[in-house]
Amino acid sequence: QAFFKPIQQTAPPSPTKRHTKISVIGAGNVGMAIAQTILTQDLADELALVDAKPDKLRGEMLDLQHAAAFLPRTRILAANDYAVTTGSDLCIVTAGARQNPGESRLSLLQRNLALFRSIVPPLAKYSPDAFLLIVSNPVDVLTYVAWKLSGFPSNRVIGSGTNLDSSRFRFLIADHLDVNAQDVQAYIVGEHGDSSVALWSSISVGGVPILSFLERQEIAYEKETLEKIHKEVVQSAYEVISLKGYTSWAIGYSVANLARSILRDQRRIHPVSVLAKGFYGISGGDVFLSLPAQLGRSGVLGVTNVHLTEEEGQRLRDSAKTILEVQNQLGL
Ligand code: NAI
Ligand code: LAC
Repeated sequence: QAFFKPIQQTAPPSPTKRHTKISVIGAGNVGMAIAQTILTQDLADELALVDAKPDKLRGEMLDLQHAAAFLPRTRILAANDYAVTTGSDLCIVTAGARQNPGESRLSLLQRNLALFRSIVPPLAKYSPDAFLLIVSNPVDVLTYVAWKLSGFPSNRVIGSGTNLDSSRFRFLIADHLDVNAQDVQAYIVGEHGDSSVALWSSISVGGVPILSFLERQEIAYEKETLEKIHKEVVQSAYEVISLKGYTSWAIGYSVANLARSILRDQRRIHPVSVLAKGFYGISGGDVFLSLPAQLGRSGVLGVTNVHLTEEEGQRLRDSAKTILEVQNQLGL
């Protein structure tokens, strides 16, 4: 006998919300931080996890499933067969090697390139209409690799990029001024990593443009403080990795924030890694790096035309050159 006695229905219930499936590839520190943020923020009806280590994967799946009584309802699946990702709306790739203390992101490329050859084609096969959101490092080059290997249009291939660096930047500015980070508008663009570019000219706090405010007040020392803050942003990951071995919580929130903008058509502007050729004078090849992009249900909707100073524009093009030099060695 059925547990519930069904009520008489005259017409099938009309769905009020689209069914959403997210797959997370790599159930390590970063993948699990993303998975748990997706669950607590009720972003998916179905969450599929894939990892190369079956015991670790099953353990993580069970541990998350055991929180069901405290979470919005989400079906959680896990397997090391990509069939589990079938029909995903969004595939988030976090699998791969991470930095040892002091190691740069770019040095991970050869190790993670090989993995991407085994990860991206099956994802594209099982979810041909999905968005790919790349997190593994070096994220900009691997987003290019994922674009090439998937054959997806560039509006559906995005790297988490400097959405995280910008959050670190906003936190440090907010901390310095003792305001809420959500009231700080500030972008870091370019490479997620050592050659990232801070857009000083567009920082504003509560609608007040900071640079022109400082200039009017002739507070020169504050500009040095801002430069120091950018250096601190670049050092942030190195510091956290030397202290706890990896970074996870901030990237978890950053990626969930991107997932929401895409899947819920929020049309918010995020600095994320997109195909940048042709924007801000970037030339020389197909390069992915972070620019302020509008994200919605069609993926990358456009890139904002932020005013860059001559110096900012040059730094951005230098950052593109750094990435292209690495990319050109791949032979893809
Ligand atoms: P981790 O070592 O904790 O996890 C990596 C996971 O990938 C492991 O569970 C491993 O079994 C799995 N894996 C390896 N090969 C695989 C394959 N072929 N298929 C499926 N799974 C596979 O590392 P963690 O800390 O989670 O970092 C993951 C990546 O994310 C690194 O490349 C790291 O640099 C990057 N990262 C990127 C950030 C960003 O802002 N873009 C922020 C933080 C980390
Ligand atoms: C970060 C990683 C390591 O936390 O890219 O910035």
